[in-house]
Amino acid sequence: MRHYLNINDLDDLKKTVQESIELKKNELEFSFLGKGKTICLLFFNNSLRTRLSTQKAAQNLGLNCIVMNFGSEGWELEFEDGVVMNQSKSEHVKEAAKVIAQYCDLVAIRAFASLTDKEKDKEEIVLENFKKYAGIPIVNMESATGHPLQALADAITMEEYKTTHKPKVVLSWAPHPKALPHAVANSFVEMMQLQDADFVITHPEGYELDPDITKNCKIEYNQKKAFENADFVYVKNWSSFKEYGEVMKSDSDWMLTADKMKLTNNGKFMHCLPVRRNVIVTDEVIDSENSIVIQQANNRTYSAQIVLKKILENL
Ligand code: CP
Repeated sequence: MRHYLNINDLDDLKKTVQESIELKKNELEFSFLGKGKTICLLFFNNSLRTRLSTQKAAQNLGLNCIVMNFGSEGWELEFEDGVVMNQSKSEHVKEAAKVIAQYCDLVAIRAFASLTDKEKDKEEIVLENFKKYAGIPIVNMESATGHPLQALADAITMEEYKTTHKPKVVLSWAPHPKALPHAVANSFVEMMQLQDADFVITHPEGYELDPDITKNCKIEYNQKKAFENADFVYVKNWSSFKEYGEVMKSDSDWMLTADKMKLTNNGKFMHCLPVRRNVIVTDEVIDSENSIVIQQANNRTYSAQIVLKKILENL
């Protein structure tokens, strides 16, 4: 594997999940692989889990790790060709990517969706320009349309906690006061399309995800019906895709409550974090024994580590 931009960049998801679980048992086993090599982690947006888990994963593999909060510390980048750069943008991605590539062997990037320009967001201009001009492997630490490191961690977590060969998994929209991107939900859907599971997406009408991503997925507009007999309930907010970036509903009807969890098959509660308590999910649910959000966050290290390992083995 050269780049990790999408969960489909993995040759075989199920095999990778098993390899991650093995790696977790002895996380320093491959600490020789990154010796003498450097990774740059570039953050155009905030992070807790992605930043720390990717840095830990890199260190477990013996990589030197340079972290930069590009959004607040770097020069504002221009991505368009042929622009007269006499406004606020100080540096073109052509130079920035080539310069950064001289300092490291691989680069991981977080660059969220604008939520104002659907077409540009779909083009993934930050990741694609770095891929084009840096000439070194690129890892997606959450882009405009996907968060594949999160999706791989979610797959590892479900493998560890599933009690049946073909679990019922529900991805449920939940309310949030701010307009949030679609990346986590998109990658979760793409990951679930590679799984042996009864997968259902539930959301209010108007909150359909990109149909190019959801393709043949089952969509149930009745949240309570969707939850019946679920083994895993994965809750996430996203803004409207059709009315791009709009928040059309923010009341608590769709919040995950203990009463709704009673409809499930003793289901596990999942969320990528950060989560707003008593907006997305009640304290009672997130603090319950069936909440596996902390274990999910722990697996972010092993999803990043298996991805970096595969890239290092191919350098
Ligand atoms: N889940 C996730 O990506 O967390 P951070 O935004 O804190 O990195």
